[in-house]
Amino acid sequence: MGYKVAVVGATGNVGREMLNVLSERRFPADEVFAIASRRSLGSEVAFGDKTLKCADIEQFDFSKADFCLMSAGSTVSKEWAPRIGAAGCVVIDNSSAWRYDQDVPLIVPEVNADAIVGYTKKNIIANPNCSTAQLVVALKPLHDEAVIKRVVVSTYQSVSGAGKEAMDELWRQTKSKYVPGNEVEPNKFTKQIAFNCIPHIDVFMEDGYTKEEWKMLAETKKILDRRIRLTATCVRVPVFVGHSEAVNIEFEKPLSAEDARAILREAPGILVVDKPEDGGYVTPAEAAGEFATYVSRIREDATVENGLAMWVVADNLLKGAALNTVQIAETLINRKLLPRAA
Ligand SMILES: NC(=O)c1ccc[n+]([C@@H]2O[C@H](COP(=O)([O-])OP(=O)(O)OC[C@H]3O[C@@H](n4cnc5c(N)ncnc54)[C@H](OP(=O)(O)O)[C@@H]3O)[C@@H](O)[C@H]2O)c1
Repeated sequence: MGYKVAVVGATGNVGREMLNVLSERRFPADEVFAIASRRSLGSEVAFGDKTLKCADIEQFDFSKADFCLMSAGSTVSKEWAPRIGAAGCVVIDNSSAWRYDQDVPLIVPEVNADAIVGYTKKNIIANPNCSTAQLVVALKPLHDEAVIKRVVVSTYQSVSGAGKEAMDELWRQTKSKYVPGNEVEPNKFTKQIAFNCIPHIDVFMEDGYTKEEWKMLAETKKILDRRIRLTATCVRVPVFVGHSEAVNIEFEKPLSAEDARAILREAPGILVVDKPEDGGYVTPAEAAGEFATYVSRIREDATVENGLAMWVVADNLLKGAALNTVQIAETLINRKLLPRAA
């Protein structure tokens, strides 16, 4: 007997990837339910070689599922996650609705799997922001070795991080540049995204940072270590899938680039591709569709004491969302933490 898994947001960017990851990793599911809004009732989504018909969240009985993998945005999560959790189904949520709640564990299994035990308070587990997930996977093994004091990160985030409509906007705007008189005005983004970069993701906060930048700080502290100081600049770039990050780290103890490379080579979830030559690094186009977080361009930063710089790339829909969610469910199963064992 396997598990029953509900995927909420099954027609979206992350939801579709969740179905792919469940199938690809042969998740022990007896039954998988695809769920979205009423708009999508009856529409079909792929699950391995099967096709699932979408149910309407309003009509679905969550007490018949063990897991609810949720990616339908914060508003839906705020309303539905407590109800689904109360029905006895463990919610693993991708939105930012629950990440900062002290009764909800925020989990990246390679980094803080032990913190998962606290999930029973609300029956909700949060998945971090896509940019945070790949960052902490790369920081954790280095932090264990040399203790991180401060991180400066600049992100180059793909449009898929803003949902399927954002991907359509980049696609239509790019095409329209070659068809005079057919301009596509910004809608999902505040400025033209085709052939451009936008230093603005999520809303502005009082201190001038954006919420996306604040999330990276707050989530790194919750997942990895509250003492780490972090400053981020988050930029949307005209890439469809795959987030990249230029990361500068200041450690308490010395750590050479060579040692960092050796440590990261052994670290879970990481692949080091790092040769100082043409093409000796990974770009988002190569990371798209892959489970690994790639680290390249590891080098010493002589402008601070004990400094290192590196380049971190991952598929934001996979490690940044769907894969991490499925890994959390696998962690619950492997650690026998579910009330209803299969
Ligand atoms: N994209 C990423 O890289 C990423 C990474 C981490 C976290 N996340 C988070 O994951 C969530 C989804 O992102 P996405 O990129 O997959 O968005 P998306 O492509 O726009 O998909 C949104 C999904 O939510 C469903 N939905 C919307 N309103 C609903 C409602 N009232 N009831 C039930 N379902 C509803 C949609 O169903 P319909 O088709 O029926 O409208 C669709 O399946 C967001 O919270 C996002 O912040 C995304």
